[in-house]
Amino acid sequence: MVKLDVTARDMDDERPVTYGSEAFHSTDYLAAEKKLLWPKIWQMVERETDIPSPGDWLTYDVGDDSIIVVRMEDGALRAFHNVCPHRGRQLISVPDMLPGKVHSVRGNNRKNFVCGFHGWTFNLEGNNTYILDPQDWGGRLTPDMTCLSEVRVDTWGGFIYINMDPHCAPLREWMGRAGELLDYFELDKMRYKWRQWAIYPCNWKVAIEAFLEPYHIAATHTQLLAYGEYYACSKQYGLHSVSSYDTRDEKYQMAESSGTVRAGKGEDPRISTYELIRENYETVNYTASTQTLVNAAKRLIDELPEGVSPAECIAHWRGQARADDAARGVIWPDVPPDVQHESGLAWALWPNQNILHDVTFAGPCYRVRPYGDDPSKCIFESYALERFPEGEEPETEWVYAEPTAENWGPVLEQDFLNMEFVHKGMKSSGFRGALPNPHQEQKVINLHRNLAEWMGGRGAPKKLGL
Ligand code: FES
Ligand SMILES: [Fe+2]
Repeated sequence: MVKLDVTARDMDDERPVTYGSEAFHSTDYLAAEKKLLWPKIWQMVERETDIPSPGDWLTYDVGDDSIIVVRMEDGALRAFHNVCPHRGRQLISVPDMLPGKVHSVRGNNRKNFVCGFHGWTFNLEGNNTYILDPQDWGGRLTPDMTCLSEVRVDTWGGFIYINMDPHCAPLREWMGRAGELLDYFELDKMRYKWRQWAIYPCNWKVAIEAFLEPYHIAATHTQLLAYGEYYACSKQYGLHSVSSYDTRDEKYQMAESSGTVRAGKGEDPRISTYELIRENYETVNYTASTQTLVNAAKRLIDELPEGVSPAECIAHWRGQARADDAARGVIWPDVPPDVQHESGLAWALWPNQNILHDVTFAGPCYRVRPYGDDPSKCIFESYALERFPEGEEPETEWVYAEPTAENWGPVLEQDFLNMEFVHKGMKSSGFRGALPNPHQEQKVINLHRNLAEWMGGRGAPKKLGL
Protein backbone atom coordinates (compact mmCIF):
# COMPACT_ATOMS: atom_id res chain seq x y z
CA MET A 1 0.00 0.00 0.00
CA VAL A 2 1.16 3.51 -0.81
CA LYS A 3 2.01 5.73 2.14
CA LEU A 4 -0.05 8.87 1.81
CA ASP A 5 0.88 12.27 3.15
CA VAL A 6 -2.69 13.03 4.18
CA THR A 7 -4.06 10.56 6.74
CA ALA A 8 -7.62 10.08 7.96
CA ARG A 9 -6.53 11.85 11.14
CA ASP A 10 -5.33 14.85 9.10
CA MET A 11 -8.74 14.93 7.44
CA ASP A 12 -10.53 14.83 10.80
CA ASP A 13 -8.25 17.64 11.98
CA GLU A 14 -9.30 19.58 8.84
CA ARG A 15 -5.71 20.13 7.73
CA PRO A 16 -5.57 22.22 4.53
CA VAL A 17 -4.23 20.26 1.54
CA THR A 18 -3.53 20.68 -2.14
CA TYR A 19 -3.33 18.36 -5.15
CA GLY A 20 -2.47 18.79 -8.80
CA SER A 21 -4.59 18.36 -11.91
CA GLU A 22 -2.86 15.44 -13.68
CA ALA A 23 -5.67 13.06 -12.68
CA PHE A 24 -8.13 15.19 -14.65
CA HIS A 25 -6.26 15.68 -17.90
CA SER A 26 -3.62 13.06 -18.52
CA THR A 27 -4.42 10.32 -21.04
CA ASP A 28 -1.71 8.29 -19.34
CA TYR A 29 -3.51 8.63 -15.99
CA LEU A 30 -6.78 7.58 -17.64
CA ALA A 31 -5.04 4.52 -19.10
CA ALA A 32 -3.71 3.70 -15.63
CA GLU A 33 -7.23 4.00 -14.16
CA LYS A 34 -8.31 1.27 -16.57
CA LYS A 35 -5.75 -1.07 -15.05
CA LEU A 36 -5.41 -0.02 -11.43
CA LEU A 37 -8.81 1.39 -10.51
CA TRP A 38 -11.89 0.12 -12.32
CA PRO A 39 -10.98 -3.60 -12.40
CA LYS A 40 -10.18 -3.54 -8.66
CA ILE A 41 -13.12 -1.86 -6.99
CA TRP A 42 -16.75 -2.48 -6.12
CA GLN A 43 -18.89 -0.36 -8.41
CA MET A 44 -22.60 0.11 -8.76
CA VAL A 45 -24.06 -1.38 -11.92
CA GLU A 46 -27.81 -0.88 -11.72
CA ARG A 47 -30.86 -1.31 -9.50
CA GLU A 48 -31.85 -4.89 -8.76
CA THR A 49 -35.39 -4.18 -9.93
CA ASP A 50 -34.14 -3.85 -13.52
CA ILE A 51 -33.52 -7.61 -13.69
CA PRO A 52 -36.18 -9.13 -11.40
CA SER A 53 -36.87 -12.47 -13.13
CA PRO A 54 -34.79 -15.54 -13.98
CA GLY A 55 -33.09 -15.05 -17.34
CA ASP A 56 -33.12 -11.22 -17.07
CA TRP A 57 -29.71 -9.77 -17.90
CA LEU A 58 -27.94 -6.49 -18.56
CA THR A 59 -24.51 -5.21 -19.51
CA TYR A 60 -22.34 -2.71 -17.68
CA ASP A 61 -19.31 -1.14 -19.31
CA VAL A 62 -16.45 0.72 -17.69
CA GLY A 63 -13.04 1.46 -19.20
CA ASP A 64 -12.20 -1.41 -21.56
CA ASP A 65 -14.32 -3.90 -19.64
CA SER A 66 -17.82 -5.04 -20.36
CA ILE A 67 -19.69 -7.13 -17.79
CA ILE A 68 -22.86 -9.23 -18.13
CA VAL A 69 -25.05 -9.56 -15.03
CA VAL A 70 -27.75 -12.23 -15.15
CA ARG A 71 -30.53 -13.39 -12.79
CA MET A 72 -30.45 -17.16 -12.21
CA GLU A 73 -33.34 -19.57 -11.80
CA ASP A 74 -32.97 -19.48 -7.98
CA GLY A 75 -33.05 -15.66 -7.93
CA ALA A 76 -29.30 -15.25 -7.32
CA LEU A 77 -27.19 -13.01 -9.54
CA ARG A 78 -24.11 -14.05 -11.50
CA ALA A 79 -21.75 -11.80 -13.43
CA PHE A 80 -19.25 -12.56 -16.19
CA HIS A 81 -16.81 -10.71 -18.36
CA ASN A 82 -18.53 -10.13 -21.68
CA VAL A 83 -15.98 -12.03 -23.75
CA CYS A 84 -15.90 -15.38 -25.45
CA PRO A 85 -12.90 -17.50 -24.39
CA HIS A 86 -12.46 -18.82 -27.95
CA ARG A 87 -11.11 -15.80 -29.82
CA GLY A 88 -12.38 -12.94 -27.79
CA ARG A 89 -15.56 -11.74 -29.44
CA GLN A 90 -17.90 -9.92 -27.08
CA LEU A 91 -20.64 -12.43 -26.29
CA ILE A 92 -23.20 -9.62 -26.25
CA SER A 93 -22.39 -6.90 -28.79
CA VAL A 94 -22.22 -3.65 -26.81
CA PRO A 95 -21.62 -0.59 -29.01
CA ASP A 96 -20.06 2.50 -27.45
CA MET A 97 -22.62 4.52 -25.53
CA LEU A 98 -24.15 6.84 -28.09
CA PRO A 99 -26.23 9.90 -27.27
CA GLY A 100 -29.85 9.10 -27.95
CA LYS A 101 -29.04 5.58 -29.13
CA VAL A 102 -27.22 3.22 -26.79
CA HIS A 103 -27.08 3.30 -22.99
CA SER A 104 -26.56 -0.39 -22.27
CA VAL A 105 -27.70 -3.66 -23.80
CA ARG A 106 -30.30 -5.66 -21.86
CA GLY A 107 -32.79 -8.45 -22.26
CA ASN A 108 -34.70 -11.29 -20.65
CA ASN A 109 -35.63 -14.96 -20.91
CA ARG A 110 -32.00 -15.79 -21.48
CA LYS A 111 -31.27 -19.54 -21.25
CA ASN A 112 -27.70 -19.42 -22.52
CA PHE A 113 -25.16 -17.21 -24.25
CA VAL A 114 -24.23 -18.15 -27.83
CA CYS A 115 -21.19 -16.48 -29.37
CA GLY A 116 -22.04 -15.04 -32.76
CA PHE A 117 -18.61 -15.80 -34.27
CA HIS A 118 -18.23 -19.62 -34.11
CA GLY A 119 -21.18 -20.60 -31.96
CA TRP A 120 -19.52 -21.58 -28.70
CA THR A 121 -22.31 -21.69 -26.11
CA PHE A 122 -22.41 -21.09 -22.36
CA ASN A 123 -25.10 -21.73 -19.76
CA LEU A 124 -26.09 -19.11 -17.17
CA GLU A 125 -23.52 -20.58 -14.77
CA GLY A 126 -20.88 -19.59 -17.32
CA ASN A 127 -19.97 -23.18 -18.25
CA ASN A 128 -19.32 -24.07 -21.85
CA THR A 129 -22.04 -26.35 -23.24
CA TYR A 130 -21.14 -26.43 -26.93
CA ILE A 131 -17.99 -26.26 -29.05
CA LEU A 132 -18.03 -26.99 -32.77
CA ASP A 133 -15.58 -29.81 -33.57
CA PRO A 134 -14.00 -30.14 -30.11
CA GLN A 135 -12.03 -33.22 -31.25
CA ASP A 136 -9.75 -30.90 -33.24
CA TRP A 137 -8.12 -29.83 -29.96
CA GLY A 138 -7.12 -33.45 -29.25
CA GLY A 139 -8.78 -33.48 -25.83
CA ARG A 140 -6.58 -30.68 -24.49
CA LEU A 141 -9.36 -28.16 -23.79
CA THR A 142 -10.42 -28.23 -20.14
CA PRO A 143 -13.64 -26.75 -18.69
CA ASP A 144 -11.69 -24.00 -16.91
CA MET A 145 -10.25 -22.92 -20.28
CA THR A 146 -13.60 -22.79 -22.01
CA CYS A 147 -15.87 -21.29 -19.31
CA LEU A 148 -16.67 -17.60 -18.99
CA SER A 149 -14.53 -15.47 -16.66
CA GLU A 150 -16.58 -14.85 -13.56
CA VAL A 151 -16.95 -11.47 -11.86
CA ARG A 152 -17.91 -10.95 -8.20
CA VAL A 153 -21.44 -9.63 -7.79
CA ASP A 154 -23.41 -8.61 -4.71
CA THR A 155 -26.20 -6.25 -3.73
CA TRP A 156 -26.65 -3.46 -1.24
CA GLY A 157 -29.53 -1.01 -0.81
CA GLY A 158 -31.31 -2.41 -3.87
CA PHE A 159 -28.22 -1.72 -6.03
CA ILE A 160 -26.25 -4.38 -7.92
CA TYR A 161 -22.49 -4.05 -7.46
CA ILE A 162 -19.70 -5.89 -9.28
CA ASN A 163 -16.01 -6.27 -8.62
CA MET A 164 -13.67 -7.77 -11.24
CA ASP A 165 -10.99 -8.52 -8.64
CA PRO A 166 -11.41 -12.14 -7.47
CA HIS A 167 -9.50 -11.29 -4.27
CA CYS A 168 -11.57 -8.27 -3.29
CA ALA A 169 -13.00 -7.70 0.19
CA PRO A 170 -16.74 -8.43 0.58
CA LEU A 171 -19.10 -5.63 -0.49
CA ARG A 172 -20.42 -5.19 3.06
CA GLU A 173 -16.90 -4.52 4.29
CA TRP A 174 -16.33 -2.11 1.39
CA MET A 175 -19.47 -0.14 2.30
CA GLY A 176 -18.41 0.06 5.97
CA ARG A 177 -20.13 2.51 8.27
CA ALA A 178 -21.65 4.33 5.27
CA GLY A 179 -23.55 1.15 4.40
CA GLU A 180 -24.66 0.61 8.01
CA LEU A 181 -26.03 4.13 8.32
CA LEU A 182 -27.78 4.16 4.95
CA ASP A 183 -29.38 0.78 5.68
CA TYR A 184 -31.71 2.57 8.10
CA PHE A 185 -33.17 4.52 5.17
CA GLU A 186 -34.22 1.33 3.35
CA LEU A 187 -33.02 2.42 -0.08
CA ASP A 188 -33.88 -1.09 -1.28
CA LYS A 189 -37.59 -0.24 -0.92
CA MET A 190 -37.28 2.78 -3.21
CA ARG A 191 -37.82 2.73 -6.95
CA TYR A 192 -36.64 4.90 -9.81
CA LYS A 193 -38.73 8.02 -10.28
CA TRP A 194 -36.63 9.17 -13.24
CA ARG A 195 -33.19 8.44 -14.67
CA GLN A 196 -31.23 10.42 -17.22
CA TRP A 197 -27.79 10.38 -18.75
CA ALA A 198 -25.55 12.49 -20.92
CA ILE A 199 -22.04 12.51 -22.35
CA TYR A 200 -20.51 15.57 -20.75
CA PRO A 201 -17.30 17.41 -21.78
CA CYS A 202 -15.28 17.06 -18.58
CA ASN A 203 -13.34 14.40 -16.72
CA TRP A 204 -15.48 12.05 -14.61
CA LYS A 205 -13.91 13.43 -11.42
CA VAL A 206 -14.86 17.01 -12.29
CA ALA A 207 -18.43 15.80 -12.81
CA ILE A 208 -18.77 13.95 -9.51
CA GLU A 209 -17.00 16.72 -7.62
CA ALA A 210 -19.59 19.23 -8.83
CA PHE A 211 -22.05 17.42 -6.56
CA LEU A 212 -19.90 16.63 -3.55
CA GLU A 213 -20.22 19.81 -1.51
CA PRO A 214 -22.75 22.53 -0.71
CA TYR A 215 -19.88 25.09 -0.54
CA HIS A 216 -20.71 26.07 -4.15
CA ILE A 217 -24.36 26.85 -3.46
CA ALA A 218 -23.88 30.47 -2.41
CA ALA A 219 -22.20 31.43 -5.70
CA THR A 220 -23.63 28.88 -8.16
CA HIS A 221 -27.23 28.53 -6.93
CA THR A 222 -27.61 32.02 -5.47
CA GLN A 223 -31.41 31.87 -5.74
CA LEU A 224 -31.47 29.07 -3.12
CA LEU A 225 -30.15 31.44 -0.46
CA ALA A 226 -33.51 33.20 -0.16
CA TYR A 227 -34.83 30.55 2.23
CA GLY A 228 -31.95 28.18 2.93
CA GLU A 229 -28.71 28.23 4.87
CA TYR A 230 -26.17 25.99 3.16
CA TYR A 231 -23.14 26.14 5.39
CA ALA A 232 -21.90 22.54 5.52
CA CYS A 233 -19.46 20.27 7.24
CA SER A 234 -18.02 17.09 5.78
CA LYS A 235 -16.30 14.00 7.12
CA GLN A 236 -14.32 11.09 5.77
CA TYR A 237 -15.33 7.53 6.62
CA GLY A 238 -12.34 5.79 5.06
CA LEU A 239 -13.29 5.21 1.44
CA HIS A 240 -16.58 7.04 1.64
CA SER A 241 -17.52 10.42 3.03
CA VAL A 242 -20.52 12.49 4.02
CA SER A 243 -21.55 16.12 4.11
CA SER A 244 -24.09 17.58 6.53
CA TYR A 245 -25.65 20.92 7.09
CA ASP A 246 -23.79 22.85 9.69
CA THR A 247 -24.88 26.11 11.16
CA ARG A 248 -23.26 29.17 12.58
CA ASP A 249 -26.65 30.31 13.88
CA GLU A 250 -27.82 28.84 17.20
CA LYS A 251 -31.46 29.36 16.33
CA TYR A 252 -31.21 26.60 13.74
CA GLN A 253 -29.19 24.14 15.80
CA MET A 254 -31.48 21.17 16.46
CA ALA A 255 -31.07 17.43 16.35
CA GLU A 256 -33.50 17.08 13.46
CA SER A 257 -31.71 19.54 11.23
CA SER A 258 -28.70 17.37 10.53
CA GLY A 259 -29.74 15.72 7.30
CA THR A 260 -32.00 16.81 4.50
CA VAL A 261 -34.27 18.00 7.28
CA ARG A 262 -33.99 21.56 8.42
CA ALA A 263 -35.92 24.73 8.88
CA GLY A 264 -35.82 27.50 6.35
CA LYS A 265 -34.25 30.78 7.38
CA GLY A 266 -36.29 33.90 7.89
CA GLU A 267 -38.69 35.48 10.34
CA ASP A 268 -41.47 32.92 10.05
CA PRO A 269 -40.23 29.31 9.85
CA ARG A 270 -43.68 28.13 8.73
CA ILE A 271 -43.27 30.09 5.51
CA SER A 272 -39.55 29.69 4.96
CA THR A 273 -39.61 25.94 5.60
CA TYR A 274 -42.29 25.50 2.97
CA GLU A 275 -40.49 27.76 0.50
CA LEU A 276 -37.21 25.96 1.08
CA ILE A 277 -38.73 22.50 0.55
CA ARG A 278 -40.85 23.57 -2.42
CA GLU A 279 -38.04 25.36 -4.19
CA ASN A 280 -35.65 22.44 -3.80
CA TYR A 281 -38.26 20.01 -5.08
CA GLU A 282 -39.30 22.08 -8.08
CA THR A 283 -35.89 23.31 -9.19
CA VAL A 284 -33.92 20.09 -8.63
CA ASN A 285 -36.02 18.19 -11.15
CA TYR A 286 -38.64 16.97 -8.65
CA THR A 287 -36.32 15.24 -6.28
CA ALA A 288 -34.50 16.36 -3.07
CA SER A 289 -37.98 16.02 -1.50
CA THR A 290 -41.36 14.45 -2.26
CA GLN A 291 -44.81 15.76 -3.08
CA THR A 292 -45.99 14.51 0.34
CA LEU A 293 -43.29 16.51 2.12
CA VAL A 294 -44.03 19.61 0.04
CA ASN A 295 -47.78 19.35 0.67
CA ALA A 296 -47.30 18.93 4.42
CA ALA A 297 -44.94 21.93 4.49
CA LYS A 298 -47.51 24.03 2.66
CA ARG A 299 -50.02 23.44 5.48
CA LEU A 300 -47.66 24.66 8.23
CA ILE A 301 -49.04 28.19 7.96
CA ASP A 302 -52.58 26.91 8.67
CA GLU A 303 -51.74 24.29 11.25
CA LEU A 304 -49.26 26.10 13.47
CA PRO A 305 -49.60 29.39 15.42
CA GLU A 306 -47.49 32.42 14.73
CA GLY A 307 -44.25 32.52 16.71
CA VAL A 308 -43.68 28.77 16.54
CA SER A 309 -40.00 27.78 16.83
CA PRO A 310 -38.08 26.25 13.90
CA ALA A 311 -37.74 22.98 15.88
CA GLU A 312 -41.50 22.73 16.49
CA CYS A 313 -42.10 23.54 12.87
CA ILE A 314 -39.85 20.72 11.68
CA ALA A 315 -41.33 18.20 14.16
CA HIS A 316 -44.89 19.04 13.09
CA TRP A 317 -44.05 18.97 9.38
CA ARG A 318 -42.32 15.57 9.57
CA GLY A 319 -45.13 14.12 11.71
CA GLN A 320 -47.80 15.27 9.28
CA ALA A 321 -45.94 14.03 6.22
CA ARG A 322 -45.35 10.68 7.88
CA ALA A 323 -49.08 10.31 8.59
CA ASP A 324 -50.01 11.43 5.06
CA ASP A 325 -47.65 8.85 3.58
CA ALA A 326 -48.93 6.10 5.91
CA ALA A 327 -52.48 6.82 4.74
CA ARG A 328 -51.43 6.04 1.14
CA GLY A 329 -49.41 2.98 2.08
CA VAL A 330 -45.91 4.47 2.25
CA ILE A 331 -44.54 3.55 5.66
CA TRP A 332 -41.53 5.49 6.89
CA PRO A 333 -38.70 3.52 8.41
CA ASP A 334 -37.74 4.46 11.97
CA VAL A 335 -34.38 6.16 11.92
CA PRO A 336 -32.96 6.70 15.43
CA PRO A 337 -31.96 10.35 16.04
CA ASP A 338 -28.27 9.53 16.43
CA VAL A 339 -28.31 7.69 13.08
CA GLN A 340 -30.20 10.57 11.46
CA HIS A 341 -27.56 12.92 12.77
CA GLU A 342 -24.54 10.83 11.75
CA SER A 343 -25.96 9.96 8.33
CA GLY A 344 -25.91 13.61 7.31
CA LEU A 345 -27.12 15.08 4.05
CA ALA A 346 -25.38 13.27 1.21
CA TRP A 347 -22.85 10.47 0.76
CA ALA A 348 -19.98 10.11 -1.62
CA LEU A 349 -19.67 6.36 -2.12
CA TRP A 350 -16.16 6.14 -3.46
CA PRO A 351 -15.26 6.71 -6.14
CA ASN A 352 -18.11 7.56 -8.50
CA GLN A 353 -21.48 7.33 -6.76
CA ASN A 354 -23.33 10.07 -4.85
CA ILE A 355 -26.49 9.59 -2.82
CA LEU A 356 -28.54 12.31 -1.19
CA HIS A 357 -30.93 10.40 1.07
CA ASP A 358 -33.99 10.72 3.24
CA VAL A 359 -36.59 8.24 4.52
CA THR A 360 -38.85 8.24 1.44
CA PHE A 361 -36.53 9.42 -1.32
CA ALA A 362 -32.96 9.46 -2.48
CA GLY A 363 -31.93 12.02 -4.99
CA PRO A 364 -30.58 13.57 -6.87
CA CYS A 365 -28.16 10.62 -7.03
CA TYR A 366 -25.24 10.49 -9.43
CA ARG A 367 -22.93 7.98 -11.07
CA VAL A 368 -20.14 8.94 -13.45
CA ARG A 369 -17.71 6.96 -15.60
CA PRO A 370 -14.97 7.82 -18.08
CA TYR A 371 -16.06 7.91 -21.73
CA GLY A 372 -13.70 6.12 -24.10
CA ASP A 373 -10.05 7.17 -24.02
CA ASP A 374 -10.73 10.87 -23.71
CA PRO A 375 -10.01 12.30 -20.23
CA SER A 376 -12.11 15.34 -21.20
CA LYS A 377 -15.35 13.36 -21.51
CA CYS A 378 -17.50 11.41 -19.12
CA ILE A 379 -20.71 9.45 -18.93
CA PHE A 380 -22.89 11.41 -16.54
CA GLU A 381 -25.93 9.73 -15.01
CA SER A 382 -28.39 11.06 -12.50
CA TYR A 383 -31.53 9.53 -11.04
CA ALA A 384 -34.16 9.98 -8.37
CA LEU A 385 -35.45 7.18 -6.15
CA GLU A 386 -38.66 7.34 -4.16
CA ARG A 387 -40.87 5.07 -2.06
CA PHE A 388 -44.15 4.49 -3.83
CA PRO A 389 -47.30 2.72 -2.67
CA GLU A 390 -47.12 -0.89 -3.83
CA GLY A 391 -48.20 -1.20 -7.44
CA GLU A 392 -47.79 2.52 -8.14
CA GLU A 393 -44.09 2.46 -9.02
CA PRO A 394 -43.53 4.20 -12.36
CA GLU A 395 -41.91 2.36 -15.28
CA THR A 396 -38.71 4.17 -16.16
CA GLU A 397 -35.79 3.72 -18.50
CA TRP A 398 -32.50 5.52 -19.00
CA VAL A 399 -33.25 8.60 -21.07
CA TYR A 400 -30.53 10.51 -22.89
CA ALA A 401 -30.91 14.17 -21.96
CA GLU A 402 -28.79 17.05 -23.22
CA PRO A 403 -27.61 19.11 -20.24
CA THR A 404 -30.22 21.87 -20.36
CA ALA A 405 -32.52 23.41 -17.74
CA GLU A 406 -35.49 22.00 -19.62
CA ASN A 407 -34.21 18.44 -19.24
CA TRP A 408 -32.61 18.61 -15.81
CA GLY A 409 -34.14 21.56 -13.98
CA PRO A 410 -32.52 24.97 -13.43
CA VAL A 411 -30.30 23.90 -10.49
CA LEU A 412 -28.54 21.12 -12.39
CA GLU A 413 -28.12 23.39 -15.37
CA GLN A 414 -26.25 25.79 -13.09
CA ASP A 415 -23.96 22.91 -12.08
CA PHE A 416 -23.43 21.92 -15.72
CA LEU A 417 -22.36 25.48 -16.47
CA ASN A 418 -19.46 25.05 -14.04
CA MET A 419 -18.27 21.58 -14.97
CA GLU A 420 -16.98 22.19 -18.48
CA PHE A 421 -15.15 25.32 -17.36
CA VAL A 422 -13.65 23.75 -14.24
CA HIS A 423 -12.21 21.13 -16.55
CA LYS A 424 -10.83 23.76 -18.93
CA GLY A 425 -9.61 26.02 -16.13
CA MET A 426 -7.56 23.34 -14.43
CA LYS A 427 -5.55 22.90 -17.65
CA SER A 428 -4.17 26.39 -17.24
CA SER A 429 -0.41 26.58 -16.75
CA GLY A 430 -1.23 29.21 -14.15
CA PHE A 431 -3.21 26.79 -11.97
CA ARG A 432 -1.06 26.01 -8.93
CA GLY A 433 -3.18 23.10 -7.64
CA ALA A 434 -6.53 22.90 -5.87
CA LEU A 435 -7.14 24.50 -2.47
CA PRO A 436 -10.25 22.63 -1.24
CA ASN A 437 -12.06 23.84 1.87
CA PRO A 438 -10.94 21.50 4.70
CA HIS A 439 -14.26 21.85 6.59
CA GLN A 440 -16.79 21.83 3.76
CA GLU A 441 -15.06 19.98 0.91
CA GLN A 442 -13.57 16.92 2.60
CA LYS A 443 -15.47 14.66 0.22
CA VAL A 444 -13.46 16.10 -2.66
CA ILE A 445 -10.19 15.65 -0.79
CA ASN A 446 -11.17 12.11 0.19
CA LEU A 447 -11.88 11.21 -3.44
CA HIS A 448 -8.29 12.07 -4.34
CA ARG A 449 -6.75 10.61 -1.18
CA ASN A 450 -8.31 7.23 -1.94
CA LEU A 451 -7.62 7.44 -5.67
CA ALA A 452 -3.94 7.96 -4.91
CA GLU A 453 -3.96 4.78 -2.84
CA TRP A 454 -5.19 2.77 -5.84
CA MET A 455 -3.15 4.71 -8.41
CA GLY A 456 0.27 4.09 -6.90
CA GLY A 457 0.42 7.48 -5.21
CA ARG A 458 -0.30 9.56 -8.31
CA GLY A 459 -2.29 12.69 -7.62
CA ALA A 460 -2.02 12.30 -3.84
CA PRO A 461 -3.12 15.36 -1.84
CA LYS A 462 -0.32 16.96 0.18
CA LYS A 463 -0.61 18.97 3.36
CA LEU A 464 -0.04 22.65 2.82
CA GLY A 465 3.28 23.62 4.35
CA LEU A 466 2.07 25.50 7.40
S1 FES B 1 -14.93 -16.08 -30.71
FE1 FES B 1 -16.64 -16.93 -29.74
S2 FES B 1 -16.96 -18.79 -30.73
FE2 FES B 1 -15.23 -17.98 -31.69
FE1 LIG C 1 -24.96 22.34 -7.34
